[in-house]
Amino acid sequence: MRFDHRHLLGIEPLRPDEIVTLLDLSDQYVAFNRRRDKHAKALAGLTQINMFFENSTRTQASFELAGKRLGADVMNMSMQASSIKKGETLIDTAMTLNAMHPDLLVVRHPHSGAVDLLAQKVNCAVLNAGDGRHEHPTQALLDALTIRRAKGRLHRLTVAICGDIAHSRVARSNILLLHKMENRIRLVGPPTLMPAGIAGFGAEICDDMREGLRDADVVMMLRLQRERMDGGFIPSEREYYHRYGLDAEKLSYAREDAIVMHPGPMNRGVEIDGTLADDINRSVIQDQVEMGVAVRMAVMDVLARNLRARPAEVMA
Ligand code: NCD
Repeated sequence: MRFDHRHLLGIEPLRPDEIVTLLDLSDQYVAFNRRRDKHAKALAGLTQINMFFENSTRTQASFELAGKRLGADVMNMSMQASSIKKGETLIDTAMTLNAMHPDLLVVRHPHSGAVDLLAQKVNCAVLNAGDGRHEHPTQALLDALTIRRAKGRLHRLTVAICGDIAHSRVARSNILLLHKMENRIRLVGPPTLMPAGIAGFGAEICDDMREGLRDADVVMMLRLQRERMDGGFIPSEREYYHRYGLDAEKLSYAREDAIVMHPGPMNRGVEIDGTLADDINRSVIQDQVEMGVAVRMAVMDVLARNLRARPAEVMA
C-alpha cells in the first residue's frame, strides 16, 4: 500500500491510485463497523486531538468514534471554552497542544488555508476536517465511497453538484476528486452562488435545475451556507426552493436510478424536499454518515502507519 503523505490537508495532492487505496481500506472498515465488537488496535498508543473552531455534528462525532474504534486516546478540545477566547492565536494554541505530543491533530477552522498553516508548525499528522471554503477531504472521500458502493464504479458517471457552490468546501473537494477519477461534473445553481474562477474547474455550469439534472447518475445537494454570506445572494428561501430546491419533479429529469446525496446539515424545504431526503429508495444520505466513520478510520490508519515508519523523535 502506497500513501506517501504525512498529512491529509486536501484532495488536491492525492493521486487516483491513492484515492482508490483509501477507498479499498474504507470498505474493509465498513464491514468492521457492522460487527458487534468494534475494537481494533491500529492507533493503539497514539493520541488524537480534535480541534473544531466551527460547529460540527457528524464530522466531529465520526472522527471521535473512528479514533476510539482504532484504539487511540482521543481528546476533544472545546474551542468555545479555550484560550482562543482570551486572544491566543491559532498557532499559539497549536504549539501548546504540540508540546503535549499528540500524534494526530484533526482541525476544522473557518479560514481557508488555516489548517495548512498549522500543519507547518507541528510535528504530528494533521487532518483537515474543513477549512473555510477551501477543502474538506474526508467528506469528498466518504462521498466517493458512497457513490462507488451505490453505482459499482467511480468513473464515467455524470454527477450534478447543486446549490451553494461558492461557499462550499464540500463542493470544491468533490470536484477535485471526481475530476481526478474522470467523471462528468455539472455545477448547478444561480450565478450568484458560483465561485470566481469556475471556468478552470473542468466542469459544466448550469443555472437551470432541470437541464442540469438531465441524465445525471448522482445528484449532490448542498446546504445554503447563510453564515458565510454577507449580502443578498438569493432573493428569498421560498423563491430559491422553487427554482433550485430538489423535489421529485425535478429529480425525474435525472436517470431513473440516480442517487440523492447531501453532506448535512440539511435545510429541509430550502435546498431539498424533506420527504425525498428520507426516501431510502433514492436518498443515500444515511449511507454517507455510515461511510464517514469508515473513511476516517482508513485515513487515520494509513497516516499512523506512516508515523510509525518514521524514527521516533528523540526526547531531550
Ligand atoms: C459540511 C461542512 O461543514 O463543510 N458539513 C459536513 O461536514 N457534513 C457542509 C455544510 O456545512 O453545509
